[in-house]
Amino acid sequence: MSQDNNQPASLIQRRDLFGLGAVAASLALTDKGWAATDRSASLGLQSLGYVVVPGKDLDAWGRWAPEVFGLQLADSSAATRVFRMDDHLHRLAVDLGAQMPSFGWEVAGPGALDAMAARLDAAGVKVASGSRALASQRGVRDLVTLTDPAGNGVEIFHGPALAHSPFQAARTMAGFRTGPLGMGHFALMVQPALFEKTTSFYRGLLGFRLSDYTISKGAMVVEFMHINPREHSIAVIANPDNKNELHHLMMEMLFMDDVGRSYDIVLDKYNDRIGLTMGRHINDLMTSFYVRTPSEFLMECGWGGLLIDSEQWKADELTAGGSIWGHQLMKDGQPVEGTFLPPPTARALRAPLQVYGENFEVGRRPKALDQVLKTEPLT
Ligand SMILES: [Fe+2]
Repeated sequence: MSQDNNQPASLIQRRDLFGLGAVAASLALTDKGWAATDRSASLGLQSLGYVVVPGKDLDAWGRWAPEVFGLQLADSSAATRVFRMDDHLHRLAVDLGAQMPSFGWEVAGPGALDAMAARLDAAGVKVASGSRALASQRGVRDLVTLTDPAGNGVEIFHGPALAHSPFQAARTMAGFRTGPLGMGHFALMVQPALFEKTTSFYRGLLGFRLSDYTISKGAMVVEFMHINPREHSIAVIANPDNKNELHHLMMEMLFMDDVGRSYDIVLDKYNDRIGLTMGRHINDLMTSFYVRTPSEFLMECGWGGLLIDSEQWKADELTAGGSIWGHQLMKDGQPVEGTFLPPPTARALRAPLQVYGENFEVGRRPKALDQVLKTEPLT
């Protein structure tokens, strides 16, 4: 597709909310609302752009996602609900017709899309051009589609459509950490027999790099992989239940207080839907909790994720469990039998907070405490 109409009409220099510096966090808008493709000269995948998940109860999703995560309902049809979490028109879609989830990965432009498609084709992967109808449905200029070895949809696109109106959170909150880091991360459960094939697919063919991993010894076998400074954009887990399914999707909020507010709402209204209590992960240092969605997979609500420099990063085995503290596994409002939090004396791990942008002050009272305490609701 032509990029003739993709000349920047205005430039928005954002505050450094993403912790990457002003250049990486700048976006250009055109008069057609398309995102500029100046984030990187890379021909490879850049970030997780959108996720489409199967859903049965669209009305439940339409209530739940705004209430718990503050997502903005952007579009509804008889078969779908589409939610915004930033200036992109299409971030999370729930689709009655989907059997498996699909994950959209952004590349820099049409050249990068062609190069990725050619590379996959040469490797014997079946790659299909996305129709104009599908591109329009996904809110992108152009895309190709394929499936991973576990049957998940993989969509590679360029040119996400941006909204003409600012993101309007469904409740008072500062928003989400997205931009060049993408919309978050997700974890796939795959049949153990497909584990190697799936991790090789993402690392060998799609260009992901290993972040950390566990090997058996009674624990679950997991590989965490990154594609940008977010510590991981994908985790692949060998599923003891021998099923291929989405385990969780993580969205990272800009302020920890907004995660706490979500937790309050979940404790009050969805206590029996908590999957993991509040805790802090040992690898990406995310402070988060997990709650079961109306589609039964989990969503992780997080803050303070670690950014890494891929060139310097050394992938390591995780030998001390998944969390520094918290993350008690729950089912129906009760701790899952046989699981427990380690006693405090057994776990003396700690790590610095990963702060960025304007969401911290060191050793002094916030300059704008009045404003912090008296922010008017956004809606
Ligand atoms: Fe996660």
